[in-house]
Amino acid sequence: MSAGRVLVTGAAKRIGRVIAIELSRHGFEIAIHYGSSRAEAERVSSECGGAPIFQADLARREEIHRLFEEVRGRCGPLNCLVNNAARFTRIPALEITEADWDFIHDVNLKATFFCCQEGARQMRELGAGRIVNISSLGGIRAWADHVHYCASKAGVIMLTRALAKALAPQITVNSVAPGVIAFNDIDERVQAMIDGTPMGRAGRPEEIAEAVHFFLTGPNFITGQTMVVDGGLNER
Ligand SMILES: NC(=O)c1ccc[n+]([C@@H]2O[C@H](COP(=O)([O-])OP(=O)(O)OC[C@H]3O[C@@H](n4cnc5c(N)ncnc54)[C@H](OP(=O)(O)O)[C@@H]3O)[C@@H](O)[C@H]2O)c1
Repeated sequence: MSAGRVLVTGAAKRIGRVIAIELSRHGFEIAIHYGSSRAEAERVSSECGGAPIFQADLARREEIHRLFEEVRGRCGPLNCLVNNAARFTRIPALEITEADWDFIHDVNLKATFFCCQEGARQMRELGAGRIVNISSLGGIRAWADHVHYCASKAGVIMLTRALAKALAPQITVNSVAPGVIAFNDIDERVQAMIDGTPMGRAGRPEEIAEAVHFFLTGPNFITGQTMVVDGGLNER
């Protein structure tokens, strides 16, 4: 029997890819969302036993609706959702334009909310569901060159808390806040954060996937929470 039916957004690459693969390994039926990385999404599909892939630009509300309708039509109603897709830019605070602000918030905060709303409507039909929003240590700690990103991720953390209340008792809503999760993009600034991480290393995407799996399968008495997975960086 399937452990659940889960849509993972931004699942073609990096953290989202590993979340999809790990949840598939744990017996979940996966729906893989991607924005522009079709070839990578197809590879993740084959790594998840041929799981279906779905394209949508999450910056557009109507595409989010189409995405969830397509997933429901092909797989049936969702009982789990992982909002992983996000944008990240580094801009000094006094240079951030309205377009820069909207670019980040349209996906990180607005799309996360409307994905929660669409997913929760399907879960309500089933009478139960689990939502996990991937936030960031940047939603808790202040990063001077990422004011817009930090604000969007702090929004995700509060969205998680407020939705947990709004959607109880059927649906849990929790968040995982990664610290530095390294791929092959370590520049000087990222290296400085890794050097400052008490555990003495960057995180692995599998560690984020494990935290997501906990919220999807753990006690449903846990809701509205953010689990920081950062090797202790927040405690410095
Ligand atoms: N990496 C880290 O160290 C770190 C640290 C803290 C928090 N996080 C959070 O963890 C999550 C995953 O991080 P990551 O570094 O793996 O992410 P990423 O590579 O920057 O982005 C993940 C995916 O989001 C999708 N996406 C972005 N804009 C989209 C749009 N308009 N429509 C549809 N899809 C869109 C992209 O899909 P396509 O490629 O298909 O277009 C992209 O592959 C994010 O929420 C991020 O903020 C990461």
